[in-house]
Amino acid sequence: MLPSLYIEAATHFSAMKHTLSCASERLYSTHVNPQWVNLLNVLEMNEQYERCEGCELFTTSGRHILDFLSGYCVHNAGHNHPAIVHALKDELDHRGPAMLQSHVPELAGELARELVERAGGKLERVFFANSGSEGVETAIKFSRAHTRRTGLLYAAGGFHGLTCGALSLMSEPFWRDGFGPMLQGTQPVPFGSFEALERELVTRRYAAFIVEPIQSEAGIRVPTAEYLPAAQELCRRYGTLFVLDEVQTGMYRTGPFLAAHHFEVEPDMVILAKALSGGLIPVGAVLMSEAVSSSVYNSLHRALIHTSTFGENGLAMRAGLATLTVMEDERLGQRASILGEELRRGLIEALEPYEMVTAVRGVGMLSGIEFAAPRNLKLRLAFEAFHRIHPAMFSQVLVMRLFRDHGILTQVCGNNFMVLKVAPPLVVTSEQTGEFVDAIRSVVAVAHESGTFWSEALGLARRALNW
Ligand SMILES: Cc1ncc(COP(=O)(O)O)c(C=O)c1O
Repeated sequence: MLPSLYIEAATHFSAMKHTLSCASERLYSTHVNPQWVNLLNVLEMNEQYERCEGCELFTTSGRHILDFLSGYCVHNAGHNHPAIVHALKDELDHRGPAMLQSHVPELAGELARELVERAGGKLERVFFANSGSEGVETAIKFSRAHTRRTGLLYAAGGFHGLTCGALSLMSEPFWRDGFGPMLQGTQPVPFGSFEALERELVTRRYAAFIVEPIQSEAGIRVPTAEYLPAAQELCRRYGTLFVLDEVQTGMYRTGPFLAAHHFEVEPDMVILAKALSGGLIPVGAVLMSEAVSSSVYNSLHRALIHTSTFGENGLAMRAGLATLTVMEDERLGQRASILGEELRRGLIEALEPYEMVTAVRGVGMLSGIEFAAPRNLKLRLAFEAFHRIHPAMFSQVLVMRLFRDHGILTQVCGNNFMVLKVAPPLVVTSEQTGEFVDAIRSVVAVAHESGTFWSEALGLARRALNW
């Protein structure tokens, strides 16, 4: 009797949860963004999550998913790390001053000191913002104020955010089209080329060269050891500030605190966001030299010349301090280096037999698997047909299959659809990376061996057209 009652109650409860999730999805569709819901449905990735811990996501339908995306490098410390959650609860219980805009926020000073101590070099001051884009906007304004120049150089293919200033540093028409004119005087240069950089710098028109030390959305592009030191030296020579966007690569993602530390450079500014507050509170931080900061806050009159209402809020600052403690206590940087290497070795070995896999690359726990069109004629015809429908079709079928058949969440790089991004939280275990290697091997094998993969692509194309 008891078990049947139990089953009935459980069935009722799960039906109730399903109804609730349908209702909340309808609300989201009606009042927020229906196309996001449609896209998740097309990709068969529309799950409701009831609990997320470490690398693991648990859905209301009872599925267990491994997160190999980390919200695009937000969850370096793992989802809902107990120590960070505890620090936030504590901050709320404390009932301290929040957003008075009329006092000195102590925690902002503490977090700033911790950040500049770890970053080193000439970075001594911090401006706190609420997002990566807002950090990039800050870097644009501060570099213009400091140099009294207006031009801005950036590396082609990079991703810097979708506010107008940040978007002016991204050349892909997809992101810009339809949004009107962007900032004047911005100029892309090829990532990795000192010659192209010098040709522009020599004009002395540029306030800053803004670049990701390792380009993430461009396809996990790791520069040569010489590129960033040479770029910095050229910037110095021509009076341009050297600014690193470490929104994805910072916070121990690639091993050290900053990816800059791999290359022994001393940037004038570094932009952090995403993982800085443990993935729980919006945050952004621009680390800069005293000279750059002082050229903006240069008189009493200008004490508030650049501010952001929520920028130094206590919750973000407490979360940032707790996140740094967690990452160091758990040696997550070292872990990222060791397990990241192990993961890439496993991927290279597992994917070696498959001709469509052309590279596995990365640093620390930021890796990419690059694919290319197959040489085999039958596969090539299918690949090209789907590529013409949408260049991301092939990789989205990979992502979909990893998610649906293997319970693994990934995505392709936003500016390079032929590279699958592999970026789990830094608390990932060897067993979990092993699971990922087995899963991707099996999906890639299907793409090379059977028509099922391509009929799946056809289904995806049909769903996309019907929506
Ligand atoms: C390298 C980089 N810079 C800046 C941004 C913008 O950050 P946000 O989305 O927090 O505005 C992103 C976002 O993905 C990013 O990857």
